[in-house]
Amino acid sequence: MCGIVGYAGTAAGPQAQDVVLEGLRRLEYRGYDSAGVALQTDGRLVTAKKAGKLARLVEFLDEDPLPPSVTGIGHTRWATHGAPTDANAHPHLGGDGTVAVIHNGIIENFASLKAGLLTDGVGFASQTDTEVAAHLLAKAYAETGDLPAAMCAVARSLEGAFTLLAVHADVPGTVVAARRNSPLVVGLGDGANYLGSDVAAFIGHTREAIEMGQDQVVTITASSVSITDFDGVPADGVHFHVDWDAAAAEKGGFPSFMAKEINEQPQAVADTLRGRVDPSGRLVLDELHIDETVLRSIDKIVIIACGTASYAGQVARYAIEHWCRIPCEVELAHEFRYRDPVVNEKTLVVAVSQSGETMDTIMAVRHAREQGARVVAVCNTYGSTIPRESDAALYTHAGPEIAVASTKAFLAQITACYLLGLYLAQLRGNKFADEISEIMGQLQAMPEKIQKVLDGIGQVRAMARWMADTRSVLFLGRHVGYPVAMEGALKLKEIAYIHAEGFAAGELKHGPIALIEPGQPVFVIVPSPRNRDVLHSKVVSNIQEINARGARTIVIAEEGDEDVVPYADDVIWIPPTPTLLAPLVTVVPLQVFACELATAKGLDVDQPRNLAKSVTVE
Ligand code: F6R
Repeated sequence: MCGIVGYAGTAAGPQAQDVVLEGLRRLEYRGYDSAGVALQTDGRLVTAKKAGKLARLVEFLDEDPLPPSVTGIGHTRWATHGAPTDANAHPHLGGDGTVAVIHNGIIENFASLKAGLLTDGVGFASQTDTEVAAHLLAKAYAETGDLPAAMCAVARSLEGAFTLLAVHADVPGTVVAARRNSPLVVGLGDGANYLGSDVAAFIGHTREAIEMGQDQVVTITASSVSITDFDGVPADGVHFHVDWDAAAAEKGGFPSFMAKEINEQPQAVADTLRGRVDPSGRLVLDELHIDETVLRSIDKIVIIACGTASYAGQVARYAIEHWCRIPCEVELAHEFRYRDPVVNEKTLVVAVSQSGETMDTIMAVRHAREQGARVVAVCNTYGSTIPRESDAALYTHAGPEIAVASTKAFLAQITACYLLGLYLAQLRGNKFADEISEIMGQLQAMPEKIQKVLDGIGQVRAMARWMADTRSVLFLGRHVGYPVAMEGALKLKEIAYIHAEGFAAGELKHGPIALIEPGQPVFVIVPSPRNRDVLHSKVVSNIQEINARGARTIVIAEEGDEDVVPYADDVIWIPPTPTLLAPLVTVVPLQVFACELATAKGLDVDQPRNLAKSVTVE
């Protein structure tokens, strides 16, 4: 939540306003309640900030540009303390306008700090927690005359989660920052350096970056980067190269990032599988730095995640238990953290997160490790907090996901969790090498099948357009189709603002069937008929039950499944796929349906109301 950008360059390079606004444009997915910039120019600071999306600030600056500058900071906000107004937009000023501060996170002890400042006669211009940090920094600088030392002192006095960036009128060419529990990366340029909530902030300028550690302060100028801990002791960051470029963070001709990311799913799955099997067909997960004897001794797996990532975990549970014969639970990270869960050194916790910055999941990871559990992060963002704080990380290689609604990360998360499950099965001897190699072959065939679904998606687009006025949609599935049903409902809620619910099809008769009335649209995910197992026939019976009550049934079924045809108003055909792998194709029409329906309603598909991409507050 909240995107932050910092830039220190020279007169030979671009203007700070341009660099900072470009960074904010790429980070706007993190929050879009307001935006603002502060630039350093001729021994003073100038600022501009506006409530609403970044476009409002850009429009304002087009008419009234700030003076030339090569040092600045910028912020795009997801409101926590104080309504999304101009006054509450960042930057916030301290010391009569000599210092400007932007912030991502929540300062938990801001009330007591504010009370102290008010007693000292400091006046406040906003309702935010951030403004406290601005006044404290101005005060600390007045006492020390050393901006990094002043930032260290402020950081030591704060509790909670924060990334703070600041510029001071009297310290030209310098941006100083501190981080605790909120993300911050440094971009290493040629004659310029950058700061950002993530690498998207500066990807247009450099792909070389430093991952900041917990409780560190960094000071950048055009020619230097210096990192210390909160006591001013020099510290190191971890250097890394970003393996995607600026083009990956653009829409590339698609109407929205979500549409683009749905279309990138074959690639996301292929890239997540790439390089993880040796020529003999054996799975190699070199990055899994957990002792093999430990992995052999685990007696329980707990997958923790939120939202879409938790549904990926729910899908993975079916496969992991089936392949490894280890009990596997899936729990929402925020529920896990606060219910005194039974985990110990024989528990493997798998933390699934696209951003790696979801605070609920971070807190759950910390709790699990305190109890002695080993934690593997399944994550899409290199260098983010969750992989850094875990015992090992298995990266999904989906590329940057910018639309707030998660799509390609979901498929990549399922794929990575499947790799983990197969690896454990291989290590523990639950599966023979030829069985593993057969499943890997099936997984490797998935990108082509996903592409086939995408190629035939016209029918879903048309359906979404004529259903634009629908007020409620239900989704039913069994087994791995159940989490897919919940994911389909979540997509529709979050971007089309339509009431939607996903049910386990077997639960229908225990209550939800009362919702069925003539014309009620119901999507049903049907398992493969090839095994003619009970799963398929039970779901066909469920379709009959709702069809008999007048529901409009939209059935997602495998090509050639004639059993569903008599009871379906529409059938979306998917290519034959093994049951456990089917979610990688059955979810695709549901994602497209939500995207098209939101578009038909004229909504902002990429930036739905009240949401932000990384939920960095609990
Ligand atoms: C839904 C969505 C959210 C995220 C959830 C976890 O489309 O994007 O439900 O899946 O907030 O986020 P990560 O995966 O970043 O931990």
